[in-house]
Amino acid sequence: MMNIDFSNKAYLVTGGASGIGAAVVQYLLEHGGSAVIADINDEGGQQLLAQYPVQLRYLHTDVTDFTALEAACALAETEFGRLDGAVNCAGIGSFGTAVEMPLEEWHKVINIDLNGVFYACRAAIPIMRKSGGGCLVNIASLSGVRADYSFAAYNAAKAGVINFTRTLGLDHGGENIRAIAVCPGLIDTPLTAIPTAIDAVNDDWLSRIPLARAGSAEEVAQLVVFLLSPAASYITGTEIIIDGGMGSSNNQPNLPALFAAM
Ligand SMILES: NC(=O)c1ccc[n+]([C@@H]2O[C@H](COP(=O)([O-])OP(=O)(O)OC[C@H]3O[C@@H](n4cnc5c(N)ncnc54)[C@H](O)[C@@H]3O)[C@@H](O)[C@H]2O)c1
Repeated sequence: MMNIDFSNKAYLVTGGASGIGAAVVQYLLEHGGSAVIADINDEGGQQLLAQYPVQLRYLHTDVTDFTALEAACALAETEFGRLDGAVNCAGIGSFGTAVEMPLEEWHKVINIDLNGVFYACRAAIPIMRKSGGGCLVNIASLSGVRADYSFAAYNAAKAGVINFTRTLGLDHGGENIRAIAVCPGLIDTPLTAIPTAIDAVNDDWLSRIPLARAGSAEEVAQLVVFLLSPAASYITGTEIIIDGGMGSSNNQPNLPALFAAM
């Protein structure tokens, strides 16, 4: 991990009780920062809180509730005196085509994965302004850049997060607020544990990744904290893919490999 000092900085981390969010929280706290976790995973949140009782606060927060996110940002201000940014990790996946997916499921995914990011940024920006600006990192997905089979709502939500983040970069650059979308490929977290536990699924997945392995939550966290840091001070309004090369293919067949096998 890079050695970046987050002393006297405070961040909101949605979905910070598990996976990528928890790795971001741990990095921030171990490098002097403070954080408020906004999540519905009370068990994961309480475990982290027990480890870092001084620099961390946990607030049970459903990201589909704008008022609850306002309270989480206000908590950062009252407890730590400032808010320097938000890392928006809360998210769920859900299978279904446009026709088969129940309407309620579509709305649920859009509400958590897209509206939740919008609500968190809307709640954070007014408090960030008081600290002189800061940085918003929205965890989108490679699935927001390219489409997956039967993943209609998730694809739509994550593409929305990417373009919304560009909007944030345009609208708030003048007040020293940067915004970046991070687009992970396959990352080893509780979210992907069920499909990757099936050998045939895992093998097929890895065969599509040039680095031939899943990424770790820590590898994504390392990118996130770089983006939050002054080292990334000229990066805003864009998306960064972290996928071991999975998205680099245009999906054409591997002709040399096919010819060699003939
Ligand atoms: N793991 C991957 O391969 C991968 C790939 C691309 C993108 N992502 C994205 O990364 C983000 C983090 O995912 P992860 O892999 O760490 O998964 P995870 O399941 O470990 O963590 C997600 C967290 O979001 C929280 N959450 C879910 N719904 C919520 C709600 N309504 N309100 C508040 N919190 C809620 C969960 O409780 C959980 O703690 C997600 O947005 C996900 O879509 C993950």
